[in-house]
Amino acid sequence: MSQRVVVAGGAGYIGSHVCVELMSRGDQVLIIDDFSNAHPEAVERIRELSDNDLTLLHRDLADPAHKDDIIKAVTSFKPDGAIHLAGLKAVGESVAEPARYYRVNIGSALTMIEALEAANAKTIVFSSSATVYGEGNPNPVNEAGNTAPTNPYGRTKYFIEEMLKDLAKGDPEWRVVNLRYFNPVGAHPSGRIGEDPNGIPNNLFPFMAQVAVGKREKLSVFGNDYPTRDGSGVRDYIHVCDLAKGHAAALDFLAQESSTGATDINLGAGRGYSVLEAVAAFKRASNREIPYEITPRRDGDIAEIYADASRAESLLDWRAEKTIDEMCADHWRWQSQNPNGYKS
Ligand code: WQD
Repeated sequence: MSQRVVVAGGAGYIGSHVCVELMSRGDQVLIIDDFSNAHPEAVERIRELSDNDLTLLHRDLADPAHKDDIIKAVTSFKPDGAIHLAGLKAVGESVAEPARYYRVNIGSALTMIEALEAANAKTIVFSSSATVYGEGNPNPVNEAGNTAPTNPYGRTKYFIEEMLKDLAKGDPEWRVVNLRYFNPVGAHPSGRIGEDPNGIPNNLFPFMAQVAVGKREKLSVFGNDYPTRDGSGVRDYIHVCDLAKGHAAALDFLAQESSTGATDINLGAGRGYSVLEAVAAFKRASNREIPYEITPRRDGDIAEIYADASRAESLLDWRAEKTIDEMCADHWRWQSQNPNGYKS
């Protein structure tokens, strides 16, 4: 049965793919986005790809002056629940501006919670991150792993997870899934929506794509002296469309009568690729050279992390299906067809 879903941050990279997935299956969506890290054109393309309409509220969940409008819009939308993706997400920036990260990320989540309570729709899928695990967990990392985030961004994710667990402990009407993303990459196969970072990309895939398309001269590989297969960092890359399906599956899981409480669930492919392996895959997909140089390690990076995704398989009947080559081919199609992202 179709659901009515508030998607906070729905115009962003992950959010736009989640909205296409939900709307394509007939769900009704209200997007709340301040467009600080998203483009209005993405909303038009979500409508185009899902052949469905959506309601858009251009407001900032972290701005107290917007709270009344947000609560009014969410209440009148009569949602079944929400997917909360809105927030700042750059690890390095969070180290430089911790107060802003706590104010924006935790403030946005608190407003989302208040709006859902007002709408009597106490169901939320939260966009968490494998960054909550910190270092020292044996791979593959499962949800019982030690949570010890090593940066303010990761701590905002951890604190919001804990807030949601406290809500569920105090009120059985709250149904919560904390989705711990590993490394989302790729783009919708149409090439019409994708990652469009502001300024210099922090993450490997968007940077690599910009090198391939000629926007950047070369990639810095942050260290090749890690204790890994080829010395470069290993991560669990997951196609953003697989990730989007995981959100739809989490909503269906929470819609079951038996669902209650809060559940942490990893969304990862369950295997890792090194930086150099990812570069080789992107080169194959784009048929472009990707010049790189080995540079010192990046502060805060860990050598290797990849997911134990068995809980997602057993609880959500979900598993990542797309290969690293599909991730690279789809990311490249988006980048090459939209060299300036959504800016025409
Ligand atoms: C991947 C690998 C780098 C850039 C972070 C956040 C996580 C999520 C994804 C928001 C590492 C190497 C990178 C570059 C490189 N963010 N690298 N040169 O750090 O695993 O995860 O982004 O949701 O929460 O923690 O992703 O893409 O930055 O790095 O060599 O220019 O690529 O050292 O090994 P990361 P990443």
